[in-house]
Amino acid sequence: MATALPFEEYVKVDGWKFVPPEEYLKEHAKTLTPEFWLSEARKIDWYEDPTVALEGDHPFYRWFSNGKLNMSYLTLDRHMENRKHKVALFWLGEDGSERVLTYGQYHRLVNRLAYAFSTKWGIKKGDRVAIYMPMIPELPAVMLALARIGAIFSVVFSGFSANALAERIKDSGARYLITADGSYRRGKRISLQENVRRATQMAPVEGILVFERLKRVWIKTEGDILADEFLKEVPHSVYVEPVAVESHHPLFILYTSGTTGKPKGIIHDTGGYAVLLNSTMDWVFDAKEEDVYWCAADIGWITGHSYIVFGPFMKGLTSVMYEGVPNWPDPGIWWSIVERYGVSIFYTSPTAIRLLMRYGDEYVLKYDLSSLRILHSVGEPINPEAWWWYYKKVGRERCPVGSTWWMTETGGVMISHTPGWKLVPLKPGTNGYPIPGVSVSVLRPDGSEASEGERGYLVINSPWPGMPLSIWGDDERYLKTYWERFPQRFYTGDYAIRDGDSYVWVLGRADEVMNVAGHRLGTYEIESAIVEHEAVSEAAVVGIPDEVKGEVPVAFVVLKVGYEPSEELAKEIKNTVREILSPIAVPKDVVFVSKLPKTRSGKIMRRLLRAVFLGAPLGDVTTLEDEASVEEVKRAYEHLKGELG
Ligand code: WTA
Repeated sequence: MATALPFEEYVKVDGWKFVPPEEYLKEHAKTLTPEFWLSEARKIDWYEDPTVALEGDHPFYRWFSNGKLNMSYLTLDRHMENRKHKVALFWLGEDGSERVLTYGQYHRLVNRLAYAFSTKWGIKKGDRVAIYMPMIPELPAVMLALARIGAIFSVVFSGFSANALAERIKDSGARYLITADGSYRRGKRISLQENVRRATQMAPVEGILVFERLKRVWIKTEGDILADEFLKEVPHSVYVEPVAVESHHPLFILYTSGTTGKPKGIIHDTGGYAVLLNSTMDWVFDAKEEDVYWCAADIGWITGHSYIVFGPFMKGLTSVMYEGVPNWPDPGIWWSIVERYGVSIFYTSPTAIRLLMRYGDEYVLKYDLSSLRILHSVGEPINPEAWWWYYKKVGRERCPVGSTWWMTETGGVMISHTPGWKLVPLKPGTNGYPIPGVSVSVLRPDGSEASEGERGYLVINSPWPGMPLSIWGDDERYLKTYWERFPQRFYTGDYAIRDGDSYVWVLGRADEVMNVAGHRLGTYEIESAIVEHEAVSEAAVVGIPDEVKGEVPVAFVVLKVGYEPSEELAKEIKNTVREILSPIAVPKDVVFVSKLPKTRSGKIMRRLLRAVFLGAPLGDVTTLEDEASVEEVKRAYEHLKGELG
């Protein structure tokens, strides 16, 4: 199937040197060896330098296997000579409170935490610890303190429910939980205590550490300890020797959604991941000593792990962190922050751009954004309209604007414009080229290369540093999910095309994974949450295009005998999803039907549900078991539309 590209013109930004595509591709071709990555590995500090690039049995590779390093050393100790008093973080609370932390201060806090973790709790190398914290300055410190002693942490997005947290604690076998009393959201104080209480009832831990952002909201119970108390007797000058871990020692586990089953615990190593981040900070972000860097993501997702915490801290950059949302108290808040701190590198999602675009230009034009020099987006395809707005109104036509493609599994950026390496002319909406050292292809279902402009599956052709070690506790699933669809290649689950210049355009997921406002959610997870409601017998969830969020979930629900559809019930079902999974997963609509369209082999035909909802042609329905079910879905949907008026 060929897909037309919404591409009109090349964009070259004044003051930036652009190279023709042929030059990029020629130089890029020289980087496609493991030895290239070994030379990149020499750019970071090791306790023991690696001499081996890549080894291991497919697909369980080990990068730089005889190297030893420590992430806490790389991000903090290394800076004590020259950057001790440099600002590491400007943190701004939604309530206007500000905190400024230098690298020296972070180093102290991390040492004190590492000391308390190992002496009070006996946490040691390889132990797992869960983290459930909002965007406060202590979050990076906790991650780095655990890395310092070789513990494996797993951050759970603080917008997730108690169930989701419990599931992750259990699956990872976390001994302890580190959390906070809450945070501000749109002017409200949101407490995390109830979620923590319920989660640890379902999945008990040995202890809970609580940082106070709100103060005086956490009610002390058995098994938890407030951070002030925890650190009270730890001297400020304490030093904990970083544990020199093997390159393939797991740094963290991060859970992400897949097509079926429960979320997968993606395990990232230390050495390969560190090298990928160090190199991409240079190539993609062109990070320089004097930059002020702001990645406006949440640390609960991979973007925040790699490009709020590890990448920028390794580079010794000054970063900005903001607690709140982009449109509260008004849609100018982000631009006021760029002006206030003189942000030069800015990284956000297309959803945020589309949201802010809707309020018109007044808010963005009000601020002096002349400090900006590089803009990127991540998480979903950026539509050309949003790209142009970002380029013109935010970047004022002075900044290269890119759309960096990558995933939780890849650890860092894989496809992007590379202003810090070789910059090819920009095309609004494209992802650009794979970064040095990474080779990708677009394949037809039979494994042959798709031709120019033909939609196919995006794969990564060979191992790269930053790739997963495995799925926690399930090597088999790792192999099956990523390496079997196309032998020897990493299957991303995305559709893409390459255009006449070989630029890559990632179009979106090819599987039942949704991308809601840049958040990755499995339809299966939402369906599982819905059927937890006592009235529900069966549910199918599909992603429907949405102007701002890219995609939103819509649920088709079959009720058990004895239950009648009602608005009240639809609300209850939405609430069930909110409670079991997360507010971000709540379906926009709940459509009641008496049966779901299925294939003869019993698979739900989500494609049909989506088509009905969108009023699009149904396409091939020959595999459908019962055509009446489609009519029924159509009627139910018409009825719902009528009700919604
Ligand atoms: C999508 C986020 C198009 C893609 C870092 C991928 C993108 C999923 C882009 C991973 C982009 C991410 N253009 N699509 N620039 N970036 N995606 O694991 O579908 O939360 O598979 O990692 O987001 O989401 P994840």
